[in-house]
Amino acid sequence: MINTAIFASGNGSNACKLLEHEHQLNNIRFSLIFTDNPNAGVIKVAQKFNKPIVVIEKKYYSKAEHERIILDYMKDFKITWILLAGYMRILSPHFIDFFHDTSLNQSRIINIHPSKLPKFKGKNAYEQAFNSLENESGITIHFVDKGVDTGKLLLQESFEKYEEDDLNSFKTRGLKVEHALYPKFLTILDNALGTNTLEEIL
Ligand code: GRF
Repeated sequence: MINTAIFASGNGSNACKLLEHEHQLNNIRFSLIFTDNPNAGVIKVAQKFNKPIVVIEKKYYSKAEHERIILDYMKDFKITWILLAGYMRILSPHFIDFFHDTSLNQSRIINIHPSKLPKFKGKNAYEQAFNSLENESGITIHFVDKGVDTGKLLLQESFEKYEEDDLNSFKTRGLKVEHALYPKFLTILDNALGTNTLEEIL
């Protein structure tokens, strides 16, 4: 079993979909949920699924101290993979290096980003895509590297933007895609982790 952590700062709707999917997995176990936000909805999600939740607010620490405390939890819980699900803090190169996998030549940290990367990186991706001239957008699952939303792409799915959309209806459509895509990726990762060919599959 591979101990995996979910990092989230907000509502936790993606975390919820990942946790709902756990019983279908053979190799991945969600061992810890981490948030930097004491008001995050993901806290209730973790409790609903009876999962350990660690809350470390960033305002009391420097970024380096904050990450050192998180890393100590990662070591205690023997976490080897991290799934970011709306985690709003950029991880430092030091933190990312800690999860580097030499045979993959990637960090074992995955993110879901609400745009069709490489378009609309960074914050407010739904707003950026909605305000653009594009008539579609997408959701991307990618490896985390030391840039912001620049890691190797793993899975992507498009959705349409309609003329009658407002930001809210556009986001709602996108979030529905997120909720299907992250569990789909989890199954791919789970199958890959059960083989010796992780590098080939990813
Ligand atoms: C999602 O849109 C995710 O792609 C983005 O932050 C949002 C988190 O939503 N990075 P939730 O907390 O999973 O509901």
